[in-house]
Amino acid sequence: MTLLGIDIGGTGIKGAPVNVETGELLAERFRIPTPQPSLPNAVADVVGQIADHFNYKGPTGVTFPAIVKKGVIYSAANVDKTWIGTNANELFSSHVGGSVEVVNDADAAGIAEMRFGAGRDREGVIIMLTLGTGIGSAIFLDGKLLPNTEFGHLKIRGKDAEKRCSEKVREDKDLTWKAWSKHFSQYLNELELLFSPDLFIIGGGASKKAAKFLPFLTTKTEVLIVPAQMQNEAGIIGAAYLAKHLAEGN
Ligand code: BGC
Repeated sequence: MTLLGIDIGGTGIKGAPVNVETGELLAERFRIPTPQPSLPNAVADVVGQIADHFNYKGPTGVTFPAIVKKGVIYSAANVDKTWIGTNANELFSSHVGGSVEVVNDADAAGIAEMRFGAGRDREGVIIMLTLGTGIGSAIFLDGKLLPNTEFGHLKIRGKDAEKRCSEKVREDKDLTWKAWSKHFSQYLNELELLFSPDLFIIGGGASKKAAKFLPFLTTKTEVLIVPAQMQNEAGIIGAAYLAKHLAEGN
């Protein structure tokens, strides 16, 4: 079965048709820069353009970098504040000519990893973190997602973790890998203490440089780094996969 998956990020909005049984993209990704400011109508226009590019009208899964419940946006850490209270399912479906299910971006990336990637066939408590402008999180117990965890906003020494060790912070502050790893390690240690996970899966820009920071981590838990290619596609795949299952009510 094919669904369109669209991943809304801070800098780009990307989409592709997805085979939701195998997790494969059925065409090359199409990307349009995220409008600035990222106002709801401007973003919805881009979502519509992506569906048009694939000549697609049908059920669509869309990721959004915020708390999303039944398509309504409840937070706006790194997007325009006018999103709060918007029913994104309704807004986007009027642009794509089919039903739309909007889900949190890290939940989508996490489910793609659990079904088709690094977490495949793994049981227990698994925490997926995506490092980008912010830090996204998804937690699974035996493959089942607890949606809308916001571990990027866990306080580390009084400050949101994503303000200490996101990819953006590392770049903006020009931190060495060693200095950044110290913050990131402290964050992982805090998550370990709170959740006793069996596995961390880490995705995002830094995943391409795993060799530079893995040696500095002091975690006891196994850490798997997501390959860059899957990371680029995980949001799209997970959005389509979750849209199918949400529409079916399972
Ligand atoms: C948001 C999350 C999102 C994460 C990654 C955080 O600032 O609060 O909802 O998953 O960034 O985009």
